[in-house]
Amino acid sequence: MILIIDFGSQFNQLIARRVRECRVYCQVEPPDITIDRIRALNPEGIILSGGPGSIYEENSPKADAAMFGLGIPVLGICYGMQYMVDALGGRVKSASKREYGFAALNIKKDLGIFKGVVKQTACWMSHGDSVEKLPGGFVITAWTKNTRIAAMANFRKRWYGLQFHPEVQHTPKGKRMIQNFLFDVCDCSRSWTMKSFAMDAVSEIRETVKDKRVVLGLSGGVDSSVTALLLHKAISENLVCIFVDNGLLRKDERDRLKQTLSEKLDINIRFVNAGGKFLKALADVTDPEKKRKIIGKVFMDVFEAEAKKIEGAEFLAQGTLYPDVIESQSAFGGPTSVIKSHHNVGGLPKKMKLKLVEPLKYLFKDEVRNLGKTLGLHEDLIWRQPFPGPGLAVRIIGDITRRRLRILREVDVILLQEIKQSGYYRKLWQSFAVLLPLKSVGIMGDKRTYENIAAIRAVTSSDAMTADWAKLPHDLLGRISNRIINEVKGVNRVVYDISSKPPSTIEWE
Ligand code: XMP
Repeated sequence: MILIIDFGSQFNQLIARRVRECRVYCQVEPPDITIDRIRALNPEGIILSGGPGSIYEENSPKADAAMFGLGIPVLGICYGMQYMVDALGGRVKSASKREYGFAALNIKKDLGIFKGVVKQTACWMSHGDSVEKLPGGFVITAWTKNTRIAAMANFRKRWYGLQFHPEVQHTPKGKRMIQNFLFDVCDCSRSWTMKSFAMDAVSEIRETVKDKRVVLGLSGGVDSSVTALLLHKAISENLVCIFVDNGLLRKDERDRLKQTLSEKLDINIRFVNAGGKFLKALADVTDPEKKRKIIGKVFMDVFEAEAKKIEGAEFLAQGTLYPDVIESQSAFGGPTSVIKSHHNVGGLPKKMKLKLVEPLKYLFKDEVRNLGKTLGLHEDLIWRQPFPGPGLAVRIIGDITRRRLRILREVDVILLQEIKQSGYYRKLWQSFAVLLPLKSVGIMGDKRTYENIAAIRAVTSSDAMTADWAKLPHDLLGRISNRIINEVKGVNRVVYDISSKPPSTIEWE
């Protein structure tokens, strides 16, 4: 495995992605990781990430320099290179202005991580400080017009430093450099597969949980479903899943889950019918944040009451993914401003005094899908578009009533049928309908109608942080609109949402 020490760069997840793409397992750890823990992880190499700090600043992150005594290769990127220089006796120069963007890289020695890379290539710079004096045993291996020491190496010790970012796409040969580090310098093998991950995860779960029972909140999404499958493989009937039907789900959601997980795979699921409770608490509530808070609270109460009934439960499993973990442990913390309250992130365990099991916490989303495939999860579940915890409540603008829920469910069914049939479903991050709190005049047969408006939202995205409205073909949009107006009683107008995120968000509330 490769250990990545995270000095807080915005690109640290990308480094991990690049290494995993080479089928080498890696883990991102904070700078205060102890040398004993590093020894225990037994990495084949260490990558020191970039970061926003300046090495001589008082609070800039530092790692334990004892790592240079382990006899393993180290690659320092940007701030990571400067940390290396400082730790090994060289000198860094503070710069008054940042160098940001493309630079032409001139390679002096095509050895080590530059092996097989053309002598002149582009690289992506994003730094203020730069290296002024090399530590002993190092040579300059590349330069740019503005940066005399753009790369350095101590070939004997297998220590490398890059002032630029090989992990970003703007460094076209960056991938090759990372591959060289992994396979030529560290001698890693391409052995990271989902099958081996699943086997390790299963034995780790067994070791942690022993004969105790584990509770898992099942939402029907890919993350909690894959978590369920993995736990089921490890501890079979000692896994008890709770599925809370909050009355805000799409049509037939509960039955679909029943068919794929409990009937086919024999996973123990307790279905709790709590729709009445949720709807009662939401009566006359129109404020989006209030809706989210109420749903979060009722969910917690219902879940806790059900979990209490499970005898011998000592663990709570969650489908937390790696991006959340990296974000929350990053040296400089993640973004803090709350745009919307996501009730299903955190919150649950503290109150319930259960120990956490998070078997997916080292995986990225596409790896989770891959794992699901390896474990035999149904295609429909693997490729399911994300669905928000508060469900249709945040897609019904204004009052949530049974009638409005019925209308939106019917609209949603038609929309998804058409999107799936057109082959667009997997190309879109999400596609859904929103019911507006407005009515408009129409004409049907010879009669005047005064009915609801449905908005269609379809977006492309890779991580939901940013999203673009999907340029769906007009005839597909036409078909969707026609069918909805003709088949759903209570809707006489359909509009298409053409806003991107930012400045809009994906969900309307
Ligand atoms: P926004 O609307 O903030 O949504 O652009 C970003 C992504 O998050 C989903 N979403 C949620 N997911 N619980 C969730 O699990 C929630 O409360 C929640 N709210 C929004 C949304 O569907 C989109 O994919």
